[in-house]
Amino acid sequence: MKLSKKMQSAQLIGMNEGLFKCPICSADMEMVEYSRLVCENMHSFDLAKTGYVNLAPQSHTTKYDKSLFEARAEVMSSGFFGPVLDKLFPILKDHVLEIDRPVLLDAGCGEGSHLCAIHSQLQIESVGIGIDLAKEGISAASKAYPGIIWSVADLAAMPFQDFQIDVILNVLSPANYAEFNRILKRGGIVVKVVPESGYLQELREAFYGGKTQKEETDPVERFREHFDDVETERITYTFALPEGLLSPLIRMTPLTWNAGDERISDVLSEGMKEITIDLRVIVGKRR
Ligand SMILES: C[S@@+](CC[C@H](N)C(=O)[O-])C[C@H]1O[C@@H](n2cnc3c(N)ncnc32)[C@H](O)[C@@H]1O
Ligand SMILES: [Zn+2]
Repeated sequence: MKLSKKMQSAQLIGMNEGLFKCPICSADMEMVEYSRLVCENMHSFDLAKTGYVNLAPQSHTTKYDKSLFEARAEVMSSGFFGPVLDKLFPILKDHVLEIDRPVLLDAGCGEGSHLCAIHSQLQIESVGIGIDLAKEGISAASKAYPGIIWSVADLAAMPFQDFQIDVILNVLSPANYAEFNRILKRGGIVVKVVPESGYLQELREAFYGGKTQKEETDPVERFREHFDDVETERITYTFALPEGLLSPLIRMTPLTWNAGDERISDVLSEGMKEITIDLRVIVGKRR
């Protein structure tokens, strides 16, 4: 008999229950009756039907909604992010190769496709965990990608014990370096991806005449304050937009949150041939 998604996920979480701590009182947690994570003080968190567990201490509504994550999944499945994943994969693989059952965490994983692509390519026994504060992202991830632990959680107060994680992936999402250092094993690494000035420039051009918001602090400098052996590399390429991908591209990014419907339909009818991906990968080791 085929196990339900929830049952499969309960088994996976149960096998790794020692990683978790209660998001309310920080006590150890245990998987109970293949259906909920319960702490020693009886705070209880049910698994959803699709197998994810909501460990956010309170519910958050974010502007990252279901349609944004659907659009993101569609764009990511087109190969848009392929060269970035090709760059990230060897970094992660080299780090975890010698580790017994390495644990990979994607902090701010959204709809989960990056973690799934990397985790499935690794081909060694490893534990993949994706967290995001947006329930819609985690729900989509748990439907699409079994075999990974998916949890609604705040990356600034993560429901994990200290020194448990080998690699933290943090792609185009906020970070909390004190939390990252708390949960990383000694020598564990953070692989962060931040946008560079040309990222999605054609969209910015179409909607805001190309104006960019200048970051106030240099993300690499900030990263260096918290991690050792920091290395960075910029990845820049253009991606030819296949027919039909402009609409999800517009919907997948916070860049267009302030754009009116009229401007969106104008941009859609004008069309767009290619889009620039310009990102920086920053890698560093826990001190
Ligand atoms: C631009 S999206 C990137 C998602 C995914 N990493 C990707 O590359 O497709 C930023 C993500 O950060 C998540 N996020 C923002 N604040 C967060 C927090 N405090 N804890 C967890 N996730 C957070 C959002 O919900 C959103 O999914
Ligand atoms: Zn508790």
